[in-house]
Amino acid sequence: MNYLMVCLGNICRSPLAEGILRDKAVKYNLDIIVDSAGTSNYHIGQAPDSRTISNAKQHGINISNLKGRQFQISDFDKFDVIFVMDSSNYSYIIDLARNEIDRTKVELILNRVYPNSNMAVPDPYLGAEQAFENVFILLENACDVIARSLKNSNN
Ligand code: 4NP
Repeated sequence: MNYLMVCLGNICRSPLAEGILRDKAVKYNLDIIVDSAGTSNYHIGQAPDSRTISNAKQHGINISNLKGRQFQISDFDKFDVIFVMDSSNYSYIIDLARNEIDRTKVELILNRVYPNSNMAVPDPYLGAEQAFENVFILLENACDVIARSLKNSNN
């Protein structure tokens, strides 16, 4: 299974989600591919935000080697599930979907923890350090639920 994490800039939330789910895949011995992308073109080719890198590092996860990229239509063919962080990312990706198969791949990531709640992982970009830690807690929890459900279904 191939998983894509999507946010606006691909420098805060989605690269962190990518790093956390990869870490869970190692811990739970899951054979999955994880990547991330942004809906915007603001940070193509850039490393994640330094505050996200240092937050991840505090939790033992290294995401410093990741590079920002923009979501492409071909991602619908490459990935089985496309996890988005908020309703704005959701609308953007759904608008690009070519058919019902594409549409069914798109999920708000926190719905895995709080079904049908449509809660957002809040954008931390203009926030303080606590906003980054809050994002980590939300994504760590969500990725643990995702990894455990995969473990139980043998991927
Ligand atoms: P992200 O955060 O979507 O979690 O990567 C943002 C990063 C950059 C911007 C907005 C959100 N920006 O406007 O540059």
